[in-house]
Amino acid sequence: MYLTKEEEKTLEGEYGESLRKAIEILVALGDIYEADSLIPVKSAQIAGVSYKTIGDAGLEWISDLKGKVKIPAILNPAGMDMLRWKEMGIEPNFARKQQEIIDAYERLGIRTKCTCTPYYLEGFDAKLGDHLAWSESSAVSYANSVIGARTNREGGPSALSAALVGKTANYGYHLDEMREPVIAVTVDCELSGSDYGALGYVAGKIIGSRVPIFSMKGHPSNDELKTLGAALAASGAVALYHVEGVTPEAIRSNFERPDENIVIEKQQIEEVYEASDEFMDGKLDTDIITVGCPHCSPEELETIAALLEGKSIQKEMWVCTSREIAQRYADLVKKIESSGAKVVCDTCMVVSPAANNYKAMMVNSGKALAYVPSMCRVAARYGSIEQCIKEAGVIDEN
Ligand code: F3S
Repeated sequence: MYLTKEEEKTLEGEYGESLRKAIEILVALGDIYEADSLIPVKSAQIAGVSYKTIGDAGLEWISDLKGKVKIPAILNPAGMDMLRWKEMGIEPNFARKQQEIIDAYERLGIRTKCTCTPYYLEGFDAKLGDHLAWSESSAVSYANSVIGARTNREGGPSALSAALVGKTANYGYHLDEMREPVIAVTVDCELSGSDYGALGYVAGKIIGSRVPIFSMKGHPSNDELKTLGAALAASGAVALYHVEGVTPEAIRSNFERPDENIVIEKQQIEEVYEASDEFMDGKLDTDIITVGCPHCSPEELETIAALLEGKSIQKEMWVCTSREIAQRYADLVKKIESSGAKVVCDTCMVVSPAANNYKAMMVNSGKALAYVPSMCRVAARYGSIEQCIKEAGVIDEN
């Protein structure tokens, strides 16, 4: 791989041990994937934040690093709401370790807002063709597919290395030829809202890590594309998808239709909504409802606020979003919380150990449906936002 004189000096340790380690990781990845060079990236989003997932070894690794990031960098969700962790039932020891992780990242100049939807925040508003180094799979999918920016699915250490160096290795989804669709998916029915998460849940299992191009009826909104991409990345490992006539690269490029074509039918979507026998025969009763996977957009908060306004709910319900969006839309948060639901920031139902305190969860996200049973050991069932709110035991106060 070609390195500039400055990059060679960095690799020789002339600018300190942390930068040396960081560029070493990028060069090693570049060598493995046959990158020709390092390229500048506009921003980084760094996974490996929850103490639940990185533990003491991760904390030690981050704490040893010195220096400052060269580009805007932000964190993935942590293991708890950084302000309301006690209310979530988080143990003080976990909270202390989680705060140490956040502090270690802050010393490196990383913005300590913890979210999987950085694209809603200032400084992270990528454009078509921008090169990024993002980690979280739904954020990667949104950046590549909905925005048309270019990022591989970075691991925590490689995203952090990219943030410190300001560059990443030029391979994978940074290259035109890797962005071409290789499988066509025809969706045989009209969809709306959470149906897109169900579609991603079904299609991801078939597509695996390939790049699909969907042809579908109607024009999904960006929130619907967000939920589709998150589920595709979780039940499969899709980091980039196209939708004919909808996503920016599908509109601009004249992609040849791939030879392999699969058809997804209405019945396959409906099956995702069917609860397992344990729910149906009453052995399992939903004791928590979570929405906001990926973190809610302002429009999603608005929909939830309208559905909950003037009502109260009987069960635990989390509405996950980023702290910045919650602060910006405090009026919507107030409406949601006046029903008894909690607007939970900085974290989510998958990466927080607080989710493990429940037995059965209802979700409106295909990604959460794929991950909650394995990562939280909690049974999960699927519903639309309206069904989720109904399941929360809503009572009209008016
Ligand atoms: Fe985000 Fe957590 Fe879902 S990180 S995409 S809310 S699993």
